[in-house]
Amino acid sequence: MTSELKAHFHQYFGGNPIIAFAPGRINLIGEHTDYQEGFVFPAAVQFGIWTGVQKNELPFCRLYSMDFEEEFTFDWKSFSPKKGHWSTYVMGFLAQLKQAGYPFEGFDMVIGGNIPLGAGLSSSAALSVSIGTALSQLFGLKFNPLSISKYAQNSEHQFAGVNCGIMDPYASAFGKKNHALLLDCRSNQHQEIPIDLGEYSLLLVNSNVKHSLADSAYNQRRAACEESVQLLRAHFPYIQTLRDLKNENLNEVEKLLPSSLFPKAKHVITECERVQLAANYLKQGDLKAFGKLMNESHRSLSRDYEVSCPELDFLAEKAWEFPGVLGARMMGGGFGGCTINLIPIEQISTFQNKIEQSYVENFGVAPTFIQVKISEGAKIMS
Ligand code: GLA
Repeated sequence: MTSELKAHFHQYFGGNPIIAFAPGRINLIGEHTDYQEGFVFPAAVQFGIWTGVQKNELPFCRLYSMDFEEEFTFDWKSFSPKKGHWSTYVMGFLAQLKQAGYPFEGFDMVIGGNIPLGAGLSSSAALSVSIGTALSQLFGLKFNPLSISKYAQNSEHQFAGVNCGIMDPYASAFGKKNHALLLDCRSNQHQEIPIDLGEYSLLLVNSNVKHSLADSAYNQRRAACEESVQLLRAHFPYIQTLRDLKNENLNEVEKLLPSSLFPKAKHVITECERVQLAANYLKQGDLKAFGKLMNESHRSLSRDYEVSCPELDFLAEKAWEFPGVLGARMMGGGFGGCTINLIPIEQISTFQNKIEQSYVENFGVAPTFIQVKISEGAKIMS
């Protein structure tokens, strides 16, 4: 990809760009907890986004997207990102630099990547982190990975309209080969946990559906958590977020919240505990116990948090029935995207054939299978 990107850069702009790379991410467990300052357990994967950049001494920034085969030019002194276009991620990041008072000037940029789109591997976070890593190097800003993650998150809030948490850009920026990041989204610090799956592998099954209400439902879930915190403070004055409550508080929480809010709060509280347990099981190499937590996480996301969909429930349930699979659950924001499955390597092809057949029978579309390797986070390539 690096040489392909260089070739495109040469063709469109000439010269020798700085090239940055940032990967997509998976999440082992800990879903919809990051925006409640809870715990998550993501890892970077082998797919990502490459950004080549060079100053151009012009009043414009000139961009080229290899994926969309499209050019885009804008005035860097006065620009306004438009929602829904890939260039938004460049202008969105630049807007963060502008707001923070960092100097910048005109540049040429080529962007290319190989993240399967719509799979829930956070291609948009990878794109922002890749752009941020490239611009930090280009303008000598010396941003650390946490600053890049926060700018990427803010850009998503302001210009993509999703009030996402820090998990996706953080995993892309900090990822480490063969390690998952046990991330505390309050302190924004993580522990690197070695992941040795032995005879097992992580296989994603992409449902190939995306429901159009996904973004608004995401923001509604976040708002529901914030409302619960307000109500619960009367009884638990010390809480800042749902992360401050434990499973042992659930009985009281149930009495204090309306029935529309309680299951959602319960998901966040129990999921935070599952993440901590999961990290301990993985440290001990107990894949079976970890797999059970994945299944519980799915049930909680589906029944209590209501962010699953028939396709994801079907894929998880089929995987649970499959002998040998240790765990399966929906991954990411939900309402589409993929499931993550912990499966014996030697059974992957039988599993794929079976799932594909029954999924096509039920939904009329084929799922896509993606075997992931836990890989390095963002870096400068040259
Ligand atoms: C999306 C968001 C993340 C996180 C997950 C759910 O991927 O971008 O911040 O909330 O959903 O865990």
